[in-house]
Amino acid sequence: MQTILDILTEKFSAAFEKAGYSAEYGRCVVSNRPDLCEFQCNGAMAAAKAYKKAPIMIAKEVVDQLPQDGSFKSVEAIAPGFINIILSEGILNGYLNEMSVSEKNGFEPKSVGKTAVIDYGGANVAKPLHVGHLRPAIIGESVKRLLAFDGYKTIGDAHLGDWGTPIGLIFTEMQERNPSLVFFDENYTGEYPAECPVTLKELEEIYPFASAKSKEDEEYRAKARQAVFELQQGRRGYRALWERIMDISRADLKKNYEDNLNVHFELWYGESDADPYIAPMIEDMKKQGIAKISEGALVVDVKEESDNKEMPPCMLLKSDGAVGYDSTDLATIVQRMKDFSPNKIIYVVDKRQGLHFEQVFRAVRKAGIVGDDTDLIFLGNGTMNGKDGKPFKTRDGGVLRLEALVQDVRDHVAEKMADRDLSDEEKSEIARKVGLAALKYGDLSNAATKDYIFDIDKFTSFEGNTGPYILYTMVRIKSILEKYSSVTGLSVSDVRAKAASGEYGLSDMDGNDSEKKLKLQIALFSNSVAQAVAEIAPHKVCAYLFELSNFLNSFYHENKIVAEENEDKRKGFIALICLTLKLLETGIDLLAIEAPEKM
Ligand code: ARG
Repeated sequence: MQTILDILTEKFSAAFEKAGYSAEYGRCVVSNRPDLCEFQCNGAMAAAKAYKKAPIMIAKEVVDQLPQDGSFKSVEAIAPGFINIILSEGILNGYLNEMSVSEKNGFEPKSVGKTAVIDYGGANVAKPLHVGHLRPAIIGESVKRLLAFDGYKTIGDAHLGDWGTPIGLIFTEMQERNPSLVFFDENYTGEYPAECPVTLKELEEIYPFASAKSKEDEEYRAKARQAVFELQQGRRGYRALWERIMDISRADLKKNYEDNLNVHFELWYGESDADPYIAPMIEDMKKQGIAKISEGALVVDVKEESDNKEMPPCMLLKSDGAVGYDSTDLATIVQRMKDFSPNKIIYVVDKRQGLHFEQVFRAVRKAGIVGDDTDLIFLGNGTMNGKDGKPFKTRDGGVLRLEALVQDVRDHVAEKMADRDLSDEEKSEIARKVGLAALKYGDLSNAATKDYIFDIDKFTSFEGNTGPYILYTMVRIKSILEKYSSVTGLSVSDVRAKAASGEYGLSDMDGNDSEKKLKLQIALFSNSVAQAVAEIAPHKVCAYLFELSNFLNSFYHENKIVAEENEDKRKGFIALICLTLKLLETGIDLLAIEAPEKM
């Protein structure tokens, strides 16, 4: 299905041509003066320059050439040369009826056949998931769904931090506490025990302990570094221990991402999975002459003449021969190109890592690992801050675990619903969905790059630009449909099926202002989603859903729906709210938010 703006643009382009001007001036946009009109075409202003003619003359000629096909309620050329457009109820009804019966509500995917890899996990093994990983997870999941909606084959990779300093610290501390563990015995040649010698709980205590100790103790730090090095070199016992730790840690992270955040990765790779690609990549870079020794380390220069900021080289091998964050990310790109030949690789990572990714992107381009057909996109996210404007912490200043945060929001919602007449089971299910919606929407409604303040009262409010408000609107529609069912004797799913099959359509009677506004917002669905896809901007989906909800609620307040006496009109209203509900459902699914049946 064409978008509503494309339909208008086509009509105006034809009119420009008929009037003797280039069709390119026919572009129509949503009005920025909704008090005056619904859409505008401002092409006469630009055409005036090219044709050296007064814009109002051109605008008038174009208006005269528009088809008399009943599409417009009014089209007016306004000084100095704008064209103000108000659509007829008829064209809108036809468009909405078509949307109702179309797949994806009429949205045309533009990226079928393309592939995108989204790297949005980044959790570190043996460390609990904390709020720092919240934004990448929430935004990345939504970006992935948006691109999939547009037709991309999408691959989300958790890209766990499983290969660096933390693991070295854990090994060092474990050995300190239990030196006789067979995993540490260099002369051991037998099978290693299948069980992990520590529990997750122990790991969560060991890591911060070791991390603190390493800050004071140089020798301890060196041991940890050595352990990482030997692990990477393939020391048997270390590999075995590492695998045991990985297994329990990955399972826990997976559960946390999926159950607590409704975030799902297709790949559960870690940084270590890129390791086999590092040596051949370095060989190749040496052959190309772009890898060079600098202060004992092997690096690739990525400075460009136009740089006006510091641009350090990309580090392939540290002076002790160890590989680090740069080489891992470079080799991961080698791996992704080989496995998936993606058209896009998108990183949703804290924006403070921007320089690292700029170095990495430049290096892979320079080495010919990535060609012009692949976009490398760094979607750097801002931080979630506390009310003090600083990165969110617990009350005692510690790092807040993600589960605890999710639980807090859930409890907050549950408290609000304490006096509702629902079973405990229902209440807890509602609190789970609404709580997560509050948290996610509070995040996603801000542009990814912006910092925002975590405000639990605001996020969980049922009013205003919040997740619960959107869900509440959906529940409201469902309850109207239930009422309609009970008077007609049809089930809600029958009613929805009738709307989705076109059996219930919008009637051609003129409605009031609130009805027209709702219809217009619905008609903009494809344009809004297309814009969110093009800009990789989930917050644009939020903005669309918020407005749609507002228009739905005004419509609800200003019309009798189930009590409407004219049967055609009543069916039309039902079709209208069914379509609205479908759009809201599609929209929250793009945000990876789930709706409860009741609230
Ligand atoms: N593990 C890293 C951290 O916690 C984030 C990884 C981001 N992704 C990447 N491909 N580097 O800081």
